[in-house]
Amino acid sequence: MTIGDVLGEQPGAEGRTTSGLARIREMSDRITRERGGHLHAVDDEPDREQVRAEVSALQARTSSQGWEKLLASWPYEDYSTASLDALDPRHQHVARIRAWAEDPNGRTLLLSGATGVGKTHVAFALLRHFAEQGRTVKAWKEKSYLDALLPDGGPEPAWKVRDGAARVQDLLVDDLGANRDLERGAATEFVQRELCDLFSPRLGRGKRLIITTNLGPAELERLYDERIISRISQQITVVQITGPDRRTRAGW
Ligand SMILES: Nc1ncnc2c1ncn2[C@@H]1O[C@H](COP(=O)(O)OP(=O)(O)O)[C@@H](O)[C@H]1O
Ligand SMILES: [Mg+2]
Repeated sequence: MTIGDVLGEQPGAEGRTTSGLARIREMSDRITRERGGHLHAVDDEPDREQVRAEVSALQARTSSQGWEKLLASWPYEDYSTASLDALDPRHQHVARIRAWAEDPNGRTLLLSGATGVGKTHVAFALLRHFAEQGRTVKAWKEKSYLDALLPDGGPEPAWKVRDGAARVQDLLVDDLGANRDLERGAATEFVQRELCDLFSPRLGRGKRLIITTNLGPAELERLYDERIISRISQQITVVQITGPDRRTRAGW
């Protein structure tokens, strides 16, 4: 039996009879066109090198989209140059941050230090690193996250905001406790509950949480109740960043 017997003789586009082989050629041309030239995708024996190259190109595209999306979601300051490789290894916190990033059991990282020392810069460098590994990343300032949950707080309904933060693999909560009046004591029940719900599901599921704050432990304990403090404290790595206020220095 020939291929022509199987396919039969079919009229071509101009009404001429087209042989089976010609039809196969037509089909393969069409598939090639429709698949953007990747005929190997329908071959029995795909070219493994080619497939591998395409998968890694797709991964690279996905992770760079993750990083671009993160930068676009951050209206406060441009951290597009932040990267782990560009951090100065002479600063002692850099080795600790790298070790946490490379530790598969790394869960919560608390970056503490005064305003302007580079906490958020380091946090973005870490998120870039994870995005480049193909992980999903997201960043919220504590205040913006809580504001977004309020009625009319933003373009997305509260459930979607919570869901988006919960789904992501690696989350930054920036400036924890900033703008809070320590004299007024503990944060409201709304704040306690939402932060607890935000932090708790991250334990033990391969997800990471990065927190930056310019408050010390005693101040955090004054603002947040036991549920939150004990949640943050589990599997925590605390890295203190010291140095001059980089913003002030840049302004001189
Ligand atoms: N390692 C760094 N290399 C280059 N610029 C940095 C570095 N760390 C911080 N900066 C810049 O200094 C400024 C303050 O850093 P930032 O991370 O926002 O401080 P913090 O979050 O501690 O208040 C930002 O403009 C940031 O881009
Ligand atoms: Mg900051």
